[in-house]
Amino acid sequence: PFVVTENCIKCKHTDCVEVCPVDCFHEGPNFLVIDPDECIDCTLCEPECPVNAIFPEDDVPAGQEVFVALNAELAQAWPVLTVRKDPPADAGEWDGKPDKLKLLER
Ligand code: SF4
Ligand code: F3S
Repeated sequence: PFVVTENCIKCKHTDCVEVCPVDCFHEGPNFLVIDPDECIDCTLCEPECPVNAIFPEDDVPAGQEVFVALNAELAQAWPVLTVRKDPPADAGEWDGKPDKLKLLER
């Protein structure tokens, strides 16, 4: 499956959800995750993310392996999102900022 990683936190552009053929994105307060049990590896979402936060499970950036389990866990807790919504007003300021995991809201 594909995995949403750290750079989505506080950016949350949601362009990714519109292209998913199996509606497997789930939305939290400031982050999205992919349900690994539903993702069919179609690859369509990966190029849609303006901040390059989506990776195949076996190719997540070094140090971000924790996001594999986090996607699986939070997909069980958060509701499905299928329609794009406006990102946070300050999304641009958070693109590429380090150490955003501590800012993840559940
Ligand atoms: Fe959805 Fe395809 Fe992305 Fe998986 S790879 S989350 S099926 S758009
Ligand atoms: Fe996040 Fe990128 Fe989707 S910022 S909400 S993974 S388009």
